[in-house]
Amino acid sequence: MLDLDETRITEAVLEAMANTPDSRVQQIMKSLVRHLHDFIREVALTESEWATAIDFLTRTGQMCTPERQEFILMSDVLGATVLLDAVNNRRSPQATENSVLGPFFRQARPSLQDGTDISEGLPGDSLYVHARVTDTAGCPVAGAMFDVWHSDAEGHYDSDIDGLNGAAMRGQFLTQDDGSVRFRTIAPASYPIPEDGPVGDLMRATERSVMRPAHLHVRVEAPGFSVLTTMLFRKGDPYLDRDPVFGAKKSLVADFVVDERASQHLEYTFVLQPLV
Ligand code: BEZ
Ligand code: FE
Repeated sequence: MLDLDETRITEAVLEAMANTPDSRVQQIMKSLVRHLHDFIREVALTESEWATAIDFLTRTGQMCTPERQEFILMSDVLGATVLLDAVNNRRSPQATENSVLGPFFRQARPSLQDGTDISEGLPGDSLYVHARVTDTAGCPVAGAMFDVWHSDAEGHYDSDIDGLNGAAMRGQFLTQDDGSVRFRTIAPASYPIPEDGPVGDLMRATERSVMRPAHLHVRVEAPGFSVLTTMLFRKGDPYLDRDPVFGAKKSLVADFVVDERASQHLEYTFVLQPLV
């Protein structure tokens, strides 16, 4: 018979898990229980607040479908996605930083020739992208798989545009011998993260902005290098300092230079981290 009170309960739970055969599971579960109990004691959580938290998690699960992953969105807005990436993908300072993958990457995307216009004729300001992929010594990486995907001028991805069948503003290129990729498209816009679920409730309760600054998603994969999953953000975007998913980093902000014909030009060098 255990004699438990608010201080002894933590040790009792840790002891109950002492025979967990997988040492990593044991380490994770013990730390989780310690932090959970400390959290309850620290804020003196009420039973009604705990019921609210359980209802919140229940609704988060109920919101999930094959197309909508509310738990990943919650991980994003709590900064857990960016923290996990930072802990698991330590890179040399020269290498390009990762950012959040987001829900709009698609395995089914077209393979494209260098120089392709990926806008599929959608309206918007024309944007010409000249990217380069190098290693940390500045040498070009040829034949890298270079994926891009982004929103239209109103902040919608292709799957959310009425009447559009098939891919637009997305595709995969192979880098040229000099490591370059060139394509035409339309400039992306800022857009809100989904607000109609529990994450939206949380954002309102904490008075946070739901607007993501305008961005292009980029993913680069090449043998011998860590996969780079990142985004490029438009310099001067008003939402850069309050990205709800903490994906906007200083090193990923680029100048979208406007020429005399009002076309925007973007140049950026992606530096891959070699695998150890
Ligand atoms: C996105 O940029 O596509 C995105 C990232 C995280 C949450 C929602 C959207
Ligand atoms: Fe996005």
